[in-house]
Amino acid sequence: MAMKIGVLTGGGDCSGLNAAIRAITKSLIHEFDAEVIGIEKGILGLIDNKTVPLTLQSVSGLIDKGGTLLKTCNNVSPFNYHGKDCSQLVVDTYKALNLDAVIALGGDGTMSMCHDLSKLGLNFIGVPKTIDNDLVNTDRTFGFETAVGVVVDAIDRLKTTSHSHNRVMIIETMGRYAGWIALHSGLSGAADIILLPEYPYELDTVINAIESRAQNESPSIIVIAEGATAKGGELVVSKTVENSPDAIRLGGVGHRLQKELEQHISLEVRTTVLGHIQRGGTTSAFDRIFSTNVGCYAASLAVQGKYGRMVTVRNGKLSSSPLESVANKTRKVQKNDMTLMSALAIGICFGDPSLHASLSTVCDENMMTN
Ligand code: F6P
Repeated sequence: MAMKIGVLTGGGDCSGLNAAIRAITKSLIHEFDAEVIGIEKGILGLIDNKTVPLTLQSVSGLIDKGGTLLKTCNNVSPFNYHGKDCSQLVVDTYKALNLDAVIALGGDGTMSMCHDLSKLGLNFIGVPKTIDNDLVNTDRTFGFETAVGVVVDAIDRLKTTSHSHNRVMIIETMGRYAGWIALHSGLSGAADIILLPEYPYELDTVINAIESRAQNESPSIIVIAEGATAKGGELVVSKTVENSPDAIRLGGVGHRLQKELEQHISLEVRTTVLGHIQRGGTTSAFDRIFSTNVGCYAASLAVQGKYGRMVTVRNGKLSSSPLESVANKTRKVQKNDMTLMSALAIGICFGDPSLHASLSTVCDENMMTN
């Protein structure tokens, strides 16, 4: 009998989800003659039994489209849904649908949830998606490259107005507790200062960098990750979302930095918070290919019965890791990250003098590519 595979998208959306749904569906049908169904609104579809057939026709024309055909949610845990444990409902729906496995496209929240549901006897395969690029055991998650492109485009636009008015421009990126989006967009957008959650900044160091550029009438471009903090300072939380697996929503650190700077420098400062614009738009060519690769790989894992695993890519090679090793973990920017090292080497300020001091000792074969 043909296998029956469910597909769901969980957590915040990002570019590449539709391309991955398309790849999974097409390869399961073309290669393995499987039946494929979409589970709607993430895990909610398995609580409420809301599904839709996925066919060659229904996934056609999707490769470039942002968002997710299946819809998603990032504020539901089946173990605490309106104060109740609904995990048995998920098990019942899964069984009623006669599923052999579910391929879940998600970030760390979704992988952790799939790991917990696997313990109840359900078969899950994870596919790493998130603009944050912060899943462990994989060098990349899809959605990240497109998001970085959106931020770089914004920086390019902000640079011209910054020069016209001789203003310091602050650009706040998403990324939660990891600085990947800020680091990659800051480097490719030629930012002067990049502030990452991993390395709390000293305000004085940031001010010195701005003032030294100001001597040549060069205003500074500052890219700050939403999870960045000043040394000894606190995260800036924009809201908390009840029942969400991760209740905290970050946001507002750019405006806080603006206020701090305005007390010390004479230049005008303006802040742009890019927000959800980073999650939408046309999927980049890189993410279209990457989503297709990881989608097809997940489909073949499903058909081989290799469950309880997340697709990974390390050093350009596709593989998979047990969900257990990915759940509840965050991949952060390490001191020996190649992009961080290169940014330091060309003089970008990270607001943390100890990072600059460590540069000469880490420029060796231990440098990591990401
Ligand atoms: O994890 C993806 C992400 O976009 C984060 O970068 C951001 O902090 C968060 O989701 C925003 O969540 P929401 O869509 O609930 O505002």
